[in-house]
Amino acid sequence: PPLNQILNLRDIEKVARDVLTYKALAYYASAADDETTHNENAHAFSRFFFHPRVLRRISQVDPSTTILGINSSIPIFISATGLAKLGHPLGEANLARGAGRTSIIQMLSTYASLSASQVAAARLSPSQPLFFQLYKPRDHALAAERIREVEALGYRAIVLTVDAPVAGNRERDVRAPFELEAQEREAAGGQGGEMPRQPERVDEDLEEQINLNGTVGSSLSNADLDMTFTETIPWLRSVTKLPIMLKGIQCVADAVLAAEAGVDGILLSNHGGRQLEYSLPPIEVLYKIRQQRPDVFDKLEVYIDGGVCRGTDVLKALCLGAKAVGMGRPFLYAQSAYGEAGVVHAVRILQREIVLGMRLLGATSVSELVPEMVERVDWQPL
Ligand code: FNR
Repeated sequence: PPLNQILNLRDIEKVARDVLTYKALAYYASAADDETTHNENAHAFSRFFFHPRVLRRISQVDPSTTILGINSSIPIFISATGLAKLGHPLGEANLARGAGRTSIIQMLSTYASLSASQVAAARLSPSQPLFFQLYKPRDHALAAERIREVEALGYRAIVLTVDAPVAGNRERDVRAPFELEAQEREAAGGQGGEMPRQPERVDEDLEEQINLNGTVGSSLSNADLDMTFTETIPWLRSVTKLPIMLKGIQCVADAVLAAEAGVDGILLSNHGGRQLEYSLPPIEVLYKIRQQRPDVFDKLEVYIDGGVCRGTDVLKALCLGAKAVGMGRPFLYAQSAYGEAGVVHAVRILQREIVLGMRLLGATSVSELVPEMVERVDWQPL
């Protein structure tokens, strides 16, 4: 369908599910175990309802914000995801150009299918901001070298992922190659033709990366399984002057430790449900921090990602104290289905939904989104 028939992010996902190869979809959509946390990430937003304010002047609405001090046209950024080329030949370059055209920030994954310099070169201009997501190898010198490399390329923040010292159990991903073979055997059997031995291949490079990515830590033998708040964070601070964000904080106690460690931001995230099954949805963790330790919001910037689909999801998070929210799969789907134009369209949809929601809530800027505007209900919504 043409982009003007794509009304929301669910529409984009539907198109992507049709165009993606079996294997790419398995990699993008997979989550840990029975995918409970993955499903609950999205569902959890439905427990939060608004207290809209009326009779406020709302002709002028500004949805922009800053993320680690950098301007963003809407309170959304592209979370780090591996292997965008599985979905579209231009991969992460689509994300970079789409982000540039809409003035949002892209966080590049350690496991991107384009190099950090290729993505930097794909930007609309050298001033377009990029963040770098780091999986820290055990070797400090190697990690420091990587950081210096992305600093030199103009990346503006280091996002250290802390929820994936080892890979979660993603069975969809493991099963994909076998199921593909079985389907093809069946198809070939029906026609009596020769059984296609080699199903459609992604290039060797990518295959290797999938295997690496599927087993972060266990076979990726250089992953640092011994990171700590008291050693790793001071080390990282000594290596870079860039702002530091910890990605994958999943409880109140660790949010407090992150604040004490002096990082600039935390991204409450369970890796889109791909790591520990039954880790709480990030919107619930955010709510708990708001209730139990609101002082954390004064010490660092708080972000969430996982299951965000609608402008209202974003507004709920902002009311509870998040500065912005990240989105992973929705941008992978957008660039897979429509390339750069899909990324731009997705941001435009979100922008429209956010501005509409702000008007109906009675807020003209993100600073007017306050905790009193949301309530967590204990009944089960339909
Ligand atoms: C991820 N995620 C991720 N995170 C990270 O720090 N480094 C990485 O390389 C990846 N790779 C990756 C690949 C794929 C296919 C997915 C779906 C996710 C996690 C990602 O940054 C983010 O936390 C989640 O995607 C957020 O959930 P939603 O928006 O996908 O629901």
